Amino acid sequence: MELKHKAQLNGTISVPGDKSISHRAIMFGAVSEGITEVTNFLRGADCLSTIACFRNMGIEIEEKDGRVVVHGKGLYGLREPGGMLDVGNSGTTARLICGILAGQAFASSLSGDESIRQRPMKRILTPLCAMGADIKSIKGNGCAPLAIHPAKLRGVSYASPVASAQVKSCVLLAGLYAEGETSVTEPVLSRNHTELMLAAFGAEITVKENAVSILPKPKLHGLKMEVPGDISSAAYFIAAGLLVSGSEIRIQNVGVNPTRDGILKAARAMGGNIKQQNIRVVSGEPVCDVVVTSSNLHGIVIEGEQIPALIDEIPMLAVMAAFAQGTTVIRDAAELKVKETDRIRTTAENLRRMGADVTETDDGMVICGSLDRLHGADFESFSDHRIAMAFAVAALALKDASSMRGAECVTISYPEFFRDLYGLVVS
Ligand code: S3P
Repeated sequence: MELKHKAQLNGTISVPGDKSISHRAIMFGAVSEGITEVTNFLRGADCLSTIACFRNMGIEIEEKDGRVVVHGKGLYGLREPGGMLDVGNSGTTARLICGILAGQAFASSLSGDESIRQRPMKRILTPLCAMGADIKSIKGNGCAPLAIHPAKLRGVSYASPVASAQVKSCVLLAGLYAEGETSVTEPVLSRNHTELMLAAFGAEITVKENAVSILPKPKLHGLKMEVPGDISSAAYFIAAGLLVSGSEIRIQNVGVNPTRDGILKAARAMGGNIKQQNIRVVSGEPVCDVVVTSSNLHGIVIEGEQIPALIDEIPMLAVMAAFAQGTTVIRDAAELKVKETDRIRTTAENLRRMGADVTETDDGMVICGSLDRLHGADFESFSDHRIAMAFAVAALALKDASSMRGAECVTISYPEFFRDLYGLVVS
């Protein structure tokens, strides 16, 4: 598609519900007793994959009047799925659901699209097998398709080598079905939605710094919840407001959980004018309105403990770095290589296409700001929603026209992205 360029942005928007929280609302609702009613649920393709998987295991999930209603059947109420579970493009569905499947009395198997079949699953197979689970990569390559058979699980103390909320959540969910306590420690705290939400559903969870423990076989109960706006989707509007001169954007109802708000901190450190207003708590998560005004940005170092809180926003930050003055170094982010695409490679490839000065490293990128050299380009999404959105924003700030191949993949996390972004264009 042709992308808009040289466009000034102004106005107010609300981004769709948080993807991580939407997935968890369906999964935790399904294994709780009674009704879970979710408002502001993200109807992106990834979360619809989660709904389809649980419907396939006998859970009634209704969508009505903008709400999703999950008729939970308790920890042992799922039924054997009819055929292989299809997680589509969704790593969160694939990894979290395995924690639940490992504890069931029926066999199951799961797979997904070409991207998901290349993403590492060993990171969940290792702790699940240590708990006694019978779960295998069918092709023996550590990736999906996966086959799961009934087994008796025992609690473990697992020290995860990666800061991954998907790994942590998978082990904690298996812990619901295990004999004895299960705990997970991670090198840096990753997003903590599972801990917050499982506790609200009635699980017995204890958190001590980077360690979480869960007791088995709780009586989980359904609840009413509102999903905050997704900060990972807000990131594109934050960047657009900062990069395109003369812009001011108010983004309403953004979840700003401290394990997710790294984009706000990094963008401010680059010199971004960002205000947080109307700070409140929604369903146990901090939420606010974010107001951004166009700003002159400068390079920074993004590394270490900052990384998990902004991992999905790195393609967008890398684009911002190309428009900034000076050098930006992104390191300790090797996890980028195992996302929907290798995001070091796909981000750098598109940056080069627009004339930016970027060097790929083993665990990140070095970007020298080069505003004068930047030009319109034919971008490629590589079927990765976050790459498509980051470079659609880059195009807005470029002085000549750009296009994007495969832009439709934004439906994974933000089906109305182009309508919302281009709806703010005033000139
Ligand atoms: C997610 C965790 C992160 C993130 C992904 C969503 C989650 O992945 O990148 O988009 O909902 O738990 P990792 O757990 O692999 O870091």
